[in-house]
Amino acid sequence: MDQGGLNQHGITVAPTGSGAGAEIGGVDLRHIGGAQVAAIERAWIAYGVVLFRGQQLTDLDLVAFSRRLGGLDLAPIQETGRRSVAGLPEIYVVSNVIENGAPIGSLGSGEAVWHTDMSYLPEPPKASLLYALEIPSEGGNTSFVDMYQALERLPPDLRRRASGLQVKHDGTYNSGGYVRQGVVPTGDPRTSPGTLHPLICRHPDSGREMLYLGRRRNSYIDGMDLAESEALLDALWAGMDEPAIGYTHRWQVGDLVLWDNRSTMHRRDAFDPASRRVMHRTQVKGSAPPAAA
Ligand code: SIN
Repeated sequence: MDQGGLNQHGITVAPTGSGAGAEIGGVDLRHIGGAQVAAIERAWIAYGVVLFRGQQLTDLDLVAFSRRLGGLDLAPIQETGRRSVAGLPEIYVVSNVIENGAPIGSLGSGEAVWHTDMSYLPEPPKASLLYALEIPSEGGNTSFVDMYQALERLPPDLRRRASGLQVKHDGTYNSGGYVRQGVVPTGDPRTSPGTLHPLICRHPDSGREMLYLGRRRNSYIDGMDLAESEALLDALWAGMDEPAIGYTHRWQVGDLVLWDNRSTMHRRDAFDPASRRVMHRTQVKGSAPPAAA
C-alpha cells in the first residue's frame, strides 16, 4: 500500500496519522475508472476507513459510485417508519431535520453509540458510505475504531476467554437508542431479537483476525450466565475509546467517508439540535457471513 504521495492511476492515499483511516485524493467520484475503483478498494481494506474531500455528488452519483463496490442493500426502516430518499430506496437519510412536523431522517441530534451497521442481521453489509450534505458548525463528528488492533491489544488471558464464543448482536435498538420498527423492546439480552456471530472473526477479504462486537446494549454471550456475559463484555469493550486505534472525522460539506463495516466500529458525537445535519448513506451487501477465526 502506498503510504502517501502518488499512487497508481493518479490517486493519492495518505494515512490520517491517527490510529486508523486514510484520505484519498486526486479523484472525482463522479468520473472514475475500474483501475481507480480497484485502488480505492485496496485502500479501504487496508485502512478500514477512507475519506474523500470536496466531492459534488447528487443522490444518483452516490448510488452509482456505491454500486461500483458491489450490490447495495435497501435502506433499513427508520425509527419513524420512513425510509430512503424518494425514488432511491438504497439511500438512508441520517438527519435531525424536521420538516412538516416529521423527521426527514434517522438518529436525531444525540450521541450515536459505538456500533457496526446492521450486525443484527445474519449477513451484515460489508461497507457503508456516508456523504455530508449539511453539517453543524460544531459537534456531530464521527469516530472509528479498528477492530483488528482492538483484538491485538487484548490481554492474552482475555483473548483466550473470548476465543470460540458467539455473541448476540441485538436487533432491538439502533445506535441512537431508538427502538427499531416492529420490535417489542426488551431489556433482557438473552431473549432480545438478534443474530449470533463469532466474537473473534476472520475477515473474508483481508484474512486477518478481528474482534466483532457490534453494539453493547443487549449484547449477550451465548450460553453464559447473564452476569458472566456482562462482565466479559465489559472487559472486551473497555478499550474502544483508545485514540491509538481510532480516527475521528470532522465533517465538511462534500465529504464522503467509506468504511469497512466488519473491521471497524463507529460512533457519532451529539450536536446542537437547533442546527441542521443532513447525511445520505448507502450500504454495500456483505460478501459472506462473519466466520469464526
Ligand atoms: C451511522 O451511525 O451510520 C451514522 C453516523 C453519523 O451520523 O455520523
